[in-house]
Amino acid sequence: MRYDIVQRPRRLRYSAALRALTNETHIRVDDLVAPFFVRDGTGIRNPITSMPGQHQLSIDTLLEEVAVHVNLGIKAVLLFGIPLHKDATGSDNYDHNGIIPRAIRSLKAQFPELLVISDLCFCEYTDHGHCGIINTPDQPAYQPNLPIGYLLNDVTVELLAKAAVVHAQAGADIIAPSGMLDGMVEVIRLGLDNAGLSHISIMSYAVKYASAFYGPFREAAESPPAFGNRHQYQMQPTNRREALREAALDIAEGADMIMVKPAATYLDIISAVRATVEVPVAAYHVSGEYAMIHAAAERGWLDLRASAMESLIAIKRAGADIIITYFAKDVAQWLREGND
Ligand code: PBG
Repeated sequence: MRYDIVQRPRRLRYSAALRALTNETHIRVDDLVAPFFVRDGTGIRNPITSMPGQHQLSIDTLLEEVAVHVNLGIKAVLLFGIPLHKDATGSDNYDHNGIIPRAIRSLKAQFPELLVISDLCFCEYTDHGHCGIINTPDQPAYQPNLPIGYLLNDVTVELLAKAAVVHAQAGADIIAPSGMLDGMVEVIRLGLDNAGLSHISIMSYAVKYASAFYGPFREAAESPPAFGNRHQYQMQPTNRREALREAALDIAEGADMIMVKPAATYLDIISAVRATVEVPVAAYHVSGEYAMIHAAAERGWLDLRASAMESLIAIKRAGADIIITYFAKDVAQWLREGND
C-alpha cells in the first residue's frame, strides 16, 4: 500500500545525529549564572532544606564552591548576602565591610575573570524583610501623606544607588537591582557615573512578579517579609502589558540588560519582552522552580536531569539569552557528559 505523504518531519528524527543536526535550541555554559548565598563565619555549609544541593556559605567555602563552578566553565555568579546585623535601613548592604563587599573582594582576588553580579535588594538586610524603607512614624524618612507601611520609593532608591557604588568599588562587574522600585535604574546609573564607575553595567530585574515560587529563597536568604507581602512593589502575575511597560522604562533609564522572573512559569512574558527590546534578556529560574523539580525527582516522579534540562531549554527557546539557575553546576556537568 502506498500513501501520498510528502511531508514527513519524522525523517529528521530517526537518529541521534539527525536530531542533533536539526536541534534549534542550545544551552551553553556561557549562558548560565549561578546564584550563591553568603553569610559571615568560616567553614559554613548550611544546607538549604527546600533547595537540595544548595547551601548558605561563608566566604571561604564560597571560594571553594565557586572554584568548582569555574573549573566547569561557569563565568558568572550572582551573590546574595545574609548579614549578621539587620536594621531598618539595611545598612550592611552599603557598608564597605558588609558581607557582600567582602565576598566580592575575595572572589575577585581569586578569580579576576569571573563576572560577579551583585543583587542589590534590601530584603535580606532589613529587620522587617521588605525591599527598602517602610513608612512608619518612628523613623526619620516618615512621610505623613503616604500610607503607613508603604515602601518609600525615592529614599530607598537613593540607598540602592549608595549600595551599588559600594558593591562596584568592591569589584562587582554587574549591578542587579531587584526591588522593583520606580526610577531605580536611573538613580543607580547616576550614582555609578558620579562615582567614576561608568563602565559598570546594570542588569535590572525589570519584570519581577510577586510570585509564590520565591518561597524557598526566603528560607535560603532569611528574608521573608515580617508583615504583609511584596504586592505593593512586585508585579501581579496576571499582567502582561505591564511587563512591557516595565521593560521599556528600565531601558529608557539606562538598563544594559533586563531580567524576567520567575522564568518557566512566565515563558510568554520572556517571549514578549524578547520581541520588543534590543538588550540582552535574562530569565531567573527561581528557587521554587528548582525545588519542585527536586521534590518530584526525590519521589521518583520525574527524572531530575531530563526535567531540569527541558525547563531550561524552554526558557532559552522562549527567548532568554541568559539563564540564572541553581542548576548551573549540574548543567555544566551534564553538558560535559554529552547528550543522553
Ligand atoms: C530579593 C530577591 C528575591 C529573589 C531574588 N532576589 C526574593 C523576593 O523578592 O522575595 C528570589 C529568587 C528565588 O526565588 O530564587 N528581593
